[in-house]
Amino acid sequence: MTGRITGTGSWVPEQVLDNEALSNIVDTSNQWIRERTGVERRHIAEQETTAEMAAKAGKRALEQAKVDPAKVELILVATISGNEILPCTACRVQEMLGAVQATCFDLNSACTGFLFALNTAQAYLKSGIYRNALVIGAESLSNLINWKDRGTCILFGDGAGAAFLEAEESGRYAQITHSDGEKGKALTCSSRNQKQYAEHPDAPETYMEMDGREVFKFAVSSVPQVIQELLEKEKIPKEEIRFYILHQANIRIIQSVSKRLGEAEEKFPVNIQEYGNTSGASIPILLDELNRKGCLQPGDKLVLAAFGAGLSYGASLLEWK
Ligand code: COA
Repeated sequence: MTGRITGTGSWVPEQVLDNEALSNIVDTSNQWIRERTGVERRHIAEQETTAEMAAKAGKRALEQAKVDPAKVELILVATISGNEILPCTACRVQEMLGAVQATCFDLNSACTGFLFALNTAQAYLKSGIYRNALVIGAESLSNLINWKDRGTCILFGDGAGAAFLEAEESGRYAQITHSDGEKGKALTCSSRNQKQYAEHPDAPETYMEMDGREVFKFAVSSVPQVIQELLEKEKIPKEEIRFYILHQANIRIIQSVSKRLGEAEEKFPVNIQEYGNTSGASIPILLDELNRKGCLQPGDKLVLAAFGAGLSYGASLLEWK
């Protein structure tokens, strides 16, 4: 059994913060951000919660798949920015969608979160435990960012993307993932939920912190390496890949991966200019845009690849419906 994607959806907040407006908040410029990252604007969830965005993206995926929410068996939400610790974001989504039969849980693997959630869903479908799954990546990173730190706040944005999977006998899905906890310090965000029992300290405000150069170096070597590993394992020549749908973190990282693989940049669709890095939401938002624009044809082989905090990275191969 393999999970076939029968519907995709996405949702981003209306509120837009462009580079010009951002340069009034922090010492940067539109030109610097565009040239060094490719980001032109990002969407900010001022009113919406992560769960609301996730539910809206999920609803669109179910509508496209023409599936009654009451028939959904599994909801997985990849997120690092749920607005509550309890209940999980996936249970909130369940409630909003009326997906009364679904088993729901969240998965935290930062920017590789959607890939890891997709792999988890595929494993459940392959084993026959569930027959379908709604996999969502949703983030309100604007809540975790230090808006005084120009090294991070220029990069990130908010939004949600979703894919609905249905098990079928035929179809193809393969994945390779890696985690490297020794490099974890390069990208961190301490919990605001600090020790209370013994010391009752005033919990410090904590934000996402990043060694940008280290993460950049990691990405440009690990992503092409894991894609090559996957293609070799699956014995697929790279010429057969229609699109490489990469986590949208930095246009220079995407260009470098294309160069290292010896593959044309046209095979690497991008939307980072519009949304910035939306972590676990970036791959499903891009997938949904390509799908809705009619860019994906039956039989197309797609590679999805991501890297992020952990540090972790991975790539998946799937054949479009
Ligand atoms: N605006 C203007 N200048 C800035 C700036 C900003 N937002 N951020 C840094 N600079 C300055 C630095 O102070 C430095 O100045 P100096 O040369 O006078 O010391 C110069 O620009 C270069 O800084 P550096 O940190 O080397 O820039 P960079 O080219 O590495 O770009 C990132 C920084 C963060 C954009 C880049 O490292 C990156 O994208 N890394 C990967 C991050 C990532 O993908 N994270 C998510 C993982 S899922």
